[in-house]
Amino acid sequence: MKSGSMHVLGINAYHAGASACILRDGVLICAVEEERFNRQKYWAGVPVESIRYCLADAGISAADLDHVAISRDPRANLLRKALWAARRNPHVGFLADRLINHRKVQRFDETFAAMLGVSRSDIRADFHNVEHHRAHMASTFLVSQFDQAAILSVDGMGDFVSTMWGTGNGTHLEVNDAVHFPHTDHLGTIAIALTGPPDPPPIFMGSATTTAPVAGSRSRLVRFSSPGTFARPAIW
Ligand SMILES: [Fe+2]
Repeated sequence: MKSGSMHVLGINAYHAGASACILRDGVLICAVEEERFNRQKYWAGVPVESIRYCLADAGISAADLDHVAISRDPRANLLRKALWAARRNPHVGFLADRLINHRKVQRFDETFAAMLGVSRSDIRADFHNVEHHRAHMASTFLVSQFDQAAILSVDGMGDFVSTMWGTGNGTHLEVNDAVHFPHTDHLGTIAIALTGPPDPPPIFMGSATTTAPVAGSRSRLVRFSSPGTFARPAIW
């Protein structure tokens, strides 16, 4: 390992498909999903075995990490979340569950140290909460071969956003706009509608490589509108 290298650990935790990856000096060197270790598809929790595997593969310890990033930011879109909750008058149990989840994500550094069996003071890395779709956008652009790109992130839902788009330039990423929950015009809902509960979107995405394409008009799936946004047709 080159001395003076920068190591970044990226983590998807408390979210379906818990996983981890490590970048050394901006180059992705290891990425793995927790389901490979616990054999539970789309498992959501802290991917501690994935983290251990990535550290071992990189030949470093947790103390060598410079940055740890988790792909959730409980503070993102906080006002929207609060207004939505206030209008719905949700059950106190639901609110308590969300608050516990938010606290776990925001205080992830303590959980991280405890699960790896090390002291918090032994870890010098800075911890970052990255808004879910910004994490998706960064994860695809910053390790790509492109210096400039238009970037689109489409997801079921993450940090109150279903779709986000923007541009990447060098190491800079700029968000142009996003489709926020609870708007009905988001592609993530289409993915869920196509798979149908309880199957999550990844099953539909995974099947794309194994099934025959179906000819049809895209207008049956998505109704495009200006400026650059889209909506679901009434059939959904
Ligand atoms: Fe996601």
